[in-house]
Amino acid sequence: MELPFSESWKIKMVEPIHKSTREEREKWLAEAYNNVFMLKSDQVYIDLLTDSGTGSMTDRQWSAMMLGDESYAGASSFFKFKEVVQRLLGFKYVIPTHQGRAAENVLFSYLVKEGNVVPGNAHFDTTKGHIEMRKAKAIDVTIDEAHNTQLEIPFKGNVSLEKLEKVLKENKGNVPFMVLTVTNNTVGGQPVSMKNIRETCELCHRYGVPVNMDSARFAENAYFIKTREKGYENKSIKEITKEMFSYVDSMTMSAKKDAIVNMGGFIATNNEEWYEGAKAFCIPFEGFLTYGGLSGRDLNAMAVGLDENTEFDMLQTRIHQVQYLASKLDEYGIPYQRPAGGHAIFLDADRILPNIPKEEFPAQTMTCELYLEAGIRSCEVGYLLADRDPVTHENRFDGLDFVRLCIPRRVYTDNHMDVIAAAVKNLYDKRDKINRGVRIAWEAKLMRHFTVQLERLK
Ligand code: F0G
Repeated sequence: MELPFSESWKIKMVEPIHKSTREEREKWLAEAYNNVFMLKSDQVYIDLLTDSGTGSMTDRQWSAMMLGDESYAGASSFFKFKEVVQRLLGFKYVIPTHQGRAAENVLFSYLVKEGNVVPGNAHFDTTKGHIEMRKAKAIDVTIDEAHNTQLEIPFKGNVSLEKLEKVLKENKGNVPFMVLTVTNNTVGGQPVSMKNIRETCELCHRYGVPVNMDSARFAENAYFIKTREKGYENKSIKEITKEMFSYVDSMTMSAKKDAIVNMGGFIATNNEEWYEGAKAFCIPFEGFLTYGGLSGRDLNAMAVGLDENTEFDMLQTRIHQVQYLASKLDEYGIPYQRPAGGHAIFLDADRILPNIPKEEFPAQTMTCELYLEAGIRSCEVGYLLADRDPVTHENRFDGLDFVRLCIPRRVYTDNHMDVIAAAVKNLYDKRDKINRGVRIAWEAKLMRHFTVQLERLK
């Protein structure tokens, strides 16, 4: 008999979690203004809010933390970390930051000016926020196929070269850089092919525009290249990631994802001018250049995490679990962005709750219902997260409306996946009875979904 698939790690430490009653959850959700970001974590049974900073570190990472050098300047932890970035990713200059958006803040403070245009394959919300708060414009150039949730193609996160060229042509001299996000989180954790990375960079460079890779899930992207793109089957993840980075001019990294640390990020580049420019913003925002908002132990954990999570077995175990959840949802006929992404399943709320109009935020409604059903905290990646158009102040209903079931790395078992799938099925079975959504009672001007207060309509 062929042995079944199993994890490439075993468990050394566990953290108890607790179930609750529906009555308790009704009360807690109302107290949280129907915004799951406002829940306390002990009110949650299975937490799928994010895979960011929520992974389990390895014994090697924990032991590296004990060796952290906490010197203010010149800490050996920084030099260890820098050596790993140089060796694995191929960049000479490295600036640590406390997380991904801090890397964006530091680099974009130097690069983005009012009136600029920054194209990208569906900028993540903080990335878009950092562009828009500088009164510049973020233009999405993802392929149109990404918007058809039922279409099954291997690299749904790709850049449309036609859309990109149009933006580059129409905004000559006004595009400081392009953002290439791998994997493409906003359209469902969908990968970008090596061919598309190469062609995107060639096109940008032809127009004299540098490319910054938003690399939060670069290793997962490399896994998909290895398993889906011809010519890469026999290459190691480390070889593939090195090639991915060889085409771009810089990277911003949220190490809370693919370096599997609880906190950390960085900027890396081979462009000396950018390094010198960004440095000036690191010191006031993040701190001295050899710690950038992090303690020495964080830098050590990040260095080990980068090395370990660019190994095939770790990535295979991780993505297998997401695909296992997808297979359960397939069994129950539940629509989601196909194929399953690297870090999450993105449920297609428009199809699951057809009775809820856009104006009543179907995905946010479903996020609330899923919490009430089983204490599962998911996250709306849809019309709320899209914010209002900065010029017209209208809600942006032109994108996709997803409920993201985001799987933390090495945290839950496949039994938890079974519970999640069953809870989603229960909701799906009673979808005809869910007829009213939510209304915004209060919202922030930018990145409103974190703090929005909502009323459930009756
Ligand atoms: N870029 C991408 C593609 C991201 O997914 C994130 C964060 C960031 C940048 C910002 O990094 O959180 O370290 O400041 N994404 C998390 C998520 C929060 O839940 O998808 P950060």
